[in-house]
Amino acid sequence: MPRTVFLGTGFDVPERVVTNEELTRRMDTSDEWIRERTGIRERRWVEEGETSAAMAARASRRALEAAGLEPSDVDAIVLATLSPDHFFPGTGVFLQRELGLSGTGIPALDVRAQCSGFLYGLSVADAWIRSGRYATILLVGVEIQSTGIDVSTRGRDMAVLFGDGAGAAVLGASDDPDRGVLSTHIHAEGEHAELLWCDAAASYRHPRISAEDLEQGRHYPSMVGREVFKHAVQRMPEAVHEALEENGLAVEDIDLLIPHQANARISEMVRRRLGLDETRVYNNIDRYGNTTAATIPIALAEAVQQGLLSQGDLLCLTAFGSGFTWGSALVRW
Ligand code: UT7
Repeated sequence: MPRTVFLGTGFDVPERVVTNEELTRRMDTSDEWIRERTGIRERRWVEEGETSAAMAARASRRALEAAGLEPSDVDAIVLATLSPDHFFPGTGVFLQRELGLSGTGIPALDVRAQCSGFLYGLSVADAWIRSGRYATILLVGVEIQSTGIDVSTRGRDMAVLFGDGAGAAVLGASDDPDRGVLSTHIHAEGEHAELLWCDAAASYRHPRISAEDLEQGRHYPSMVGREVFKHAVQRMPEAVHEALEENGLAVEDIDLLIPHQANARISEMVRRRLGLDETRVYNNIDRYGNTTAATIPIALAEAVQQGLLSQGDLLCLTAFGSGFTWGSALVRW
């Protein structure tokens, strides 16, 4: 059975840098509060007119170039996002079009697992590759959060956290038994769906969004931050241990952990609970904030760029987010 390997990675973030200082001019917050509670210094927000599909396409082209491949080499697209350009169709088909692949008929699957979207997508892509269904898969995480958040004091708990961006990975099949995705583990617990969610627009509402919804801010995401925090720092280490156990490996074997970038304090607590050295955990939340499904592929592309992964290294990915959803993956690089 072939193994899934990462052939190339790439990312794209908007040029516009939004500092904590800029946010203090729009809401009652402070650079100190944001840095202390979240580790975020700045994030990138799109200019008007920018689409997720265009950002995803730039990240994808970079990943394809790194892999030495052309868009026409892609057999399937898996795209994770919670902020699609449209209610339907999914952003994956727009990405397919942006890459000039409309005429090929290749499938484009959108994955809706929020912050865990990239790991859910990896799990699907890995199964397709191992089964021999598709040989080369473009896996993308992309978000435009900035157009959906309440940038006033009412929404400050959420507004300071989120950023826009896209990360992509080209996955391929390899017969080398010493390389590739060793396992993926994905989970969900719907009990807590409303602890981090966006209520409207919603198909159970008639109409899906009303003036009152807008007035009440139901179209903005909301979160019970402390509860989410508590579950995040429990579930991510749990998922990492689950992955290590399945593969007969130990925490000491991990060369690089890339946790979902939700909050620097969460990543630090996960690191401590696992007993991992600081040098083995990749963090970039200070520069991009939380880009939800895009945090892991952006961080992975940066880590590769910085030469932090050598062949044979054990890479561990873990995420937790809205749903709740969470998971982990182990990759022999
Ligand atoms: O990616 C998906 C997963 N998401 C997460 O994992 C996020 C998990 N949660 C968190 O990261 C944290 O809970 C937050 C960063 C969202 C909040 O940090 P916290 O330490 O849990 O603060 P808090 O929500 O308990 O709020 C503390 C205080 C409150 O004021 P009072 O009630 O103590 O007077 C808030 O109103 O901080 C206030 N506050 C703010 N102050 C300045 C909330 N947001 C802000 C803000 N600026 N932006």
